Amino acid sequence: MKPREIRPEVYWVGAIDWDRRLFDALIPLPDGTSYNSYLIRGSEKTALIDTVDPTMEEVLINHLNQLGVEGIDYVVANHAEQDHSGTIPQVLEKCPQAKVIVTPRCKGMLIDLLLIPEERFITVNDKETISLGDRTLEFIHAPWVHWPETMLTYLKEDKILFPCDFFGSHLATTDLYVTDEGQVYEAAKRYYAEIMMPFRTNIQKNLEKIKDYAIDIIAPSHGSMYDKPEFILKAYHSWAFDEPKNIVVLPYVSMHGSTCEMVEYLVGALAQMGVTVKQFDLTVTDLGKLAMALVDAATIVIGTPTVLAGPHPSVVYAAFLANALRPNLKFASIIGSYGWGGKAVEQLIGMLPNLKIELLTPVLSKGFPKEEDFKALETLASTIAQKHKEHGFA
Ligand code: FEO
Repeated sequence: MKPREIRPEVYWVGAIDWDRRLFDALIPLPDGTSYNSYLIRGSEKTALIDTVDPTMEEVLINHLNQLGVEGIDYVVANHAEQDHSGTIPQVLEKCPQAKVIVTPRCKGMLIDLLLIPEERFITVNDKETISLGDRTLEFIHAPWVHWPETMLTYLKEDKILFPCDFFGSHLATTDLYVTDEGQVYEAAKRYYAEIMMPFRTNIQKNLEKIKDYAIDIIAPSHGSMYDKPEFILKAYHSWAFDEPKNIVVLPYVSMHGSTCEMVEYLVGALAQMGVTVKQFDLTVTDLGKLAMALVDAATIVIGTPTVLAGPHPSVVYAAFLANALRPNLKFASIIGSYGWGGKAVEQLIGMLPNLKIELLTPVLSKGFPKEEDFKALETLASTIAQKHKEHGFA
């Protein structure tokens, strides 16, 4: 592949990772991903914005060679995570005069993670600028999108914002700019849910911080660029600021059918009352889909059988993730079954300290659910519907 020109002397020089299926040994990547790196040749200085995952080092170096780049003056590291910083050492080796531009916090992290010598860094303050001659880079500190050291880089004359992970999507594509908005919306929402949602209040602050910048292009470091920035700005605004919707997320496991029977009854009752339900069998579900559903949901109901006196281990994993992702949930309940006893409810509730939720009365069935259990599920459904209505969740 060749470098792609975005503006005169501004190039995409990244790498597309079509076949990667797991990120951080944790996050599913159904559509692969890309590591976008950008080269800006000013009249006096040349800057590289972020690099690529170390597995793609050759692709980046090949792109730079094709452009005949002899010397890079600045490597801007917006973020220390290795999928963007991991090839900085190779670029520094190729360009002995190059300096790495970072926030003070990022400098320490890159020394720790990549053993880059201290003298190779220039640290920049919030809103500081560096001239490339006829072009100017402004560095906007934007902590916690999604690590503490992150910043955004703004190319003033061309009105291009390089926000690294912020606004990104794990999507392998040859489309330089978004063409299929539906596909990108889903990929960007998945990315927000898995990576950015735990830092929602910081996302809000950083959205506020950039609102007065004139932006023609948002060029993130994963997925396509946005030549209509309003599309992704509006989506982020809604995910980060909006109240939850009239939605219940229902992750569950059933071993012998009792919990599944209860799940199906509750889902039917909620649907009848006009509440949208998103049901996930945790033995087969893509956890990214569950994370996405949590972005908008007002309520989580967790379904579990009892295993060795506690919840099923797959349910424990899902509860741990839901707690870590800190969605804007308002209500929670637990349904499930047991054979002779156990503490599934207490253990699960104890796993959700990050969520500011009201617990609605759990429904536990001894063995296969009976009439009184279905009545209790009916009551739970009507309580949820009523609570959503009272709060105006539509
Ligand atoms: Fe794409 Fe936080 O790295």
